Amino acid sequence: MEHIRTATLNGVATIEIARPEKKNALTMAMYQAMADALAAAGADPAVRAVLITGQPGIFTSGNDLEDFMQRPPQGSDSPVARFMRALLDCEKPVVAAVTGGAVGIGTTMLLHCDLVYVSDEARLAMPFVSLGLVPEYASSLLLPRLMGHVKSAEKLMLGEPFSGSDAVEAGIANAVLPAGEVVNHARRMAERFNGLPPGAVRDTKRLMRADTRERVLQAMATEGEIFGSRLRSPEAMEAFQAFFQKRKPDFSKF
Ligand code: COA
Repeated sequence: MEHIRTATLNGVATIEIARPEKKNALTMAMYQAMADALAAAGADPAVRAVLITGQPGIFTSGNDLEDFMQRPPQGSDSPVARFMRALLDCEKPVVAAVTGGAVGIGTTMLLHCDLVYVSDEARLAMPFVSLGLVPEYASSLLLPRLMGHVKSAEKLMLGEPFSGSDAVEAGIANAVLPAGEVVNHARRMAERFNGLPPGAVRDTKRLMRADTRERVLQAMATEGEIFGSRLRSPEAMEAFQAFFQKRKPDFSKF
């Protein structure tokens, strides 16, 4: 797939988001390609870890807003839901190299990766509310658990962007690296799984996630229901149109 490049080298399956002209915004076809790549990596015994990465300066600007407007995702069979489940169900370690901006699902997917390395140029943001939406991918559950309510409220209710070092401090990321080194560093960390017994790695990942798994699925279902109806709300329509008309949204009428 043109906008999702995959390659397996030295035991690491790389999933590279490559749509720089749209800041790596994720379309339905891209979610589907990433879901397929995760499933293929899981099934390939030669793969010991997965690496998800973006382009210089941008990891991903999140869901394609035109898709949100024209083809809002519906139900558990939508490509985005399939991608979310594939990442959640991936039994192998998933390493993220956050090469730059990470908006919306660009940040919330990190909560489901195992090792996260962030460029010193990265800006992370979850501006769901500014879009008339609500948090997704169990971020409304996981973020308050990581950083407490008030810090999560800055990120989820005000949509305040934050840096890679804030992400490290919050427990979302492992380390901040210079922009030119983040992918290589993440790759080296992913390659370390080549020297480890894969069964023990898999069992450890499952044990570490066991406590939250059911609650994560429950949160995703609850969020998904509200998110779906919010996508069709006048608030969201105003936010999406304002983005494409390159103007400030006007929420004063709601
Ligand atoms: N969906 C669709 N198109 C997007 C997009 C998205 N999520 N993010 C960026 N684009 C497009 C822009 O419309 C623009 O297209 P154009 O060149 O045809 O006008 C192009 O990508 C470049 O984006 P631009 O906003 O000019 O880049 P920037 O460097 O000034 O800002 C971002 C980068 C990521 C901060 C900004 O694009 C942004 O905020 N995007 C929306 C993020 C978002 O709300 N995502 C959804 C979260 S749920």
